[in-house]
Parts: sequence; C-alpha cells; structure tokens
Amino acid sequence: MYENVTTRVHGAVMTITIDRPKVLNALNGQTIEELGQAFAEAKKNDAVRCVILTGGGDKAFVAGADINELSKMTPISGKFVSEQGQNVFLQIERFPKPVIAAINGFALGGGCELALACHIRIASDKAQLGLPEVSLGILPGYGGTQRMVRLLGKGKAFELVCVGDRVGAAEAERIGLVNRVVPADQLIATVEEMAKKIATRSPVALRAAIEAINSGSDMPLEEGQVLESTLFGLLCATEDMKEGMAAFLEKRPPNFTGK
Ligand code: COA
Repeated sequence: MYENVTTRVHGAVMTITIDRPKVLNALNGQTIEELGQAFAEAKKNDAVRCVILTGGGDKAFVAGADINELSKMTPISGKFVSEQGQNVFLQIERFPKPVIAAINGFALGGGCELALACHIRIASDKAQLGLPEVSLGILPGYGGTQRMVRLLGKGKAFELVCVGDRVGAAEAERIGLVNRVVPADQLIATVEEMAKKIATRSPVALRAAIEAINSGSDMPLEEGQVLESTLFGLLCATEDMKEGMAAFLEKRPPNFTGK
C-alpha cells in the first residue's frame, strides 16, 4: 500500500516503520505524505489503541529530511516542504492515541523533530540525536525550533540548534530529550510492553489526557485548569468511567470499550 512506510497491527498496537534504510530512512516528500496516511489509517481503526513509530534497518530512526530533495528547494517550494512536514508532525502530536517513538539509531534533523512530535520517546543506547540544520544553511523547519524550546527550555534549545552537534543516548536522557534509554536489543520489546500496557487503559481517557496536555501547555495555568476540569467532567459521562470505577471496586481488571 505504501512505498516507504510499513504498518503492522499486532493486538491493539500499530507499528509504523519508516522504511528507506538505504538512505537511513531520510524523509522525502512522499514518505512524509505516506506517514500522514498511515496515521490516518491508525486513527480510523478502533482496534488500534497505541502506535509505535520506528525506523527500518538497524542504523537509523530517521537521518533527517532527504537532502537530495532539500538541495533543490526554492523559496516557494521550501515553504511548502516546511509546511507539509509541520502539518504531518502536528497530526502526530495531536494524535488521539498515544504515540511512542522507538528511536533505534540516528534521529537527526527532521528525524529528531519527528521524535519530538511523538508523545513518548524511548531510545536504544546506540541512538544519536541532533539538529544539524544550521550546518546545511537552513534551520529546523518541521516544528523543531518550537518543540525543542518547549521540551527543554531556551538554554538547551539554543545549544542544540545553534551548535548542531549530535548527542548520544545517555546525554539525551540526562537533558530530558528522551524518556528512557535501553540496550539496543531490548528496544522493541520494551516499547511493545509499554504500548500493550497503554492499550489496557481507557481510550476516551487517553484521548482527553492528550488533549489536556497538548492544548493546556500553551495556555496560562488557570485556563489550562478550566480545560482539564471540563474534560474531567465529560469523562464522567462515559461507559469507560463507570467500568473503570466498577472494576476497581469489584477487584477485577477493567474492560474498556472506548465509549
Ligand atoms: N538525506 C539523504 N540521504 C541521506 C541522508 C539524508 N538526510 N542521511 C543519510 N543519507 C544517505 C547517505 O547519502 C548515504 O547514501 P549513499 O550510500 O548513496 O552514499 C546513505 O544514506 C548512508 O549514509 P552514510 O553517510 O554513508 O552513513 P554514515 O554512517 O557514514 O553517516 C550520518 C551517518 C547520519 C552521520 C550521515 O549520513 C549524515 O550526516 N546524514 C545527514 C544528517 C543530516 O544532516 N540530517 C538533517 C537533514 S535536514
């Protein structure tokens, strides 16, 4: 169905793999488009409750936007390229089911920006992350300047964007760029275990929580709290809420339907 992306549904978890290992999974326009389509497919499929995003081969998550394409950009096409990436990455950040990046190698430029758009980042100990765009005469154009400062603060964002050096997995974990580092051979098992656990949680509660964190983080605290209490109230009308509470009181695992 896709040329540069594969999707696999196992139980309630969809794994989306960016699969152009010969160019370290570099993102050309077609790959970004296919990525958007794969996420649209995951959104429509009610059986899917969590998404894992990773890179094909054993060297890279994504080594950036495709420099062959970037080198031909004009001001007009450059704006389109940036907007296309921004739109798909925003679709991922606002995805109503949790998205975990399994960072299995280089996550550079657009690859680092893609990881930043995911909700949770787990890295292999072989991963290297960075935003080398200024060494190519451009800046991170897929939301990277905006998400890096929100995740790490101005000091680290300036350093990563302006120096352009790569950081290893341990340093990425230390500064909060990734949530956790695991040995390379345990990466997929670790992420699958986390995804399976998420898949047992209430889909409507997850959706509301993602919305509260995403929208609330750009609001003043008091407005964010209004959003939070409104979503909290809405969840009280769901079957999942009744099921979750009943299951606890009856000392059994809940069986959420997402209604
Ligand atoms: N766009 C297009 N092709 C890319 C690419 C990218 N972002 N990143 C890697 N490739 C290609 C290389 O050109 C090479 O192709 P070739 O075999 O036809 O020569 C192939 O992938 C393997 O990469 P190579 O550079 O030989 O691997 P390496 O292990 O020596 O180095 C990197 C790995 C990631 C350090 C290096 O490929 C690199 O710096 N890539 C660009 C990273 C970047 O600047 N990204 C930001 C773009 S905005």
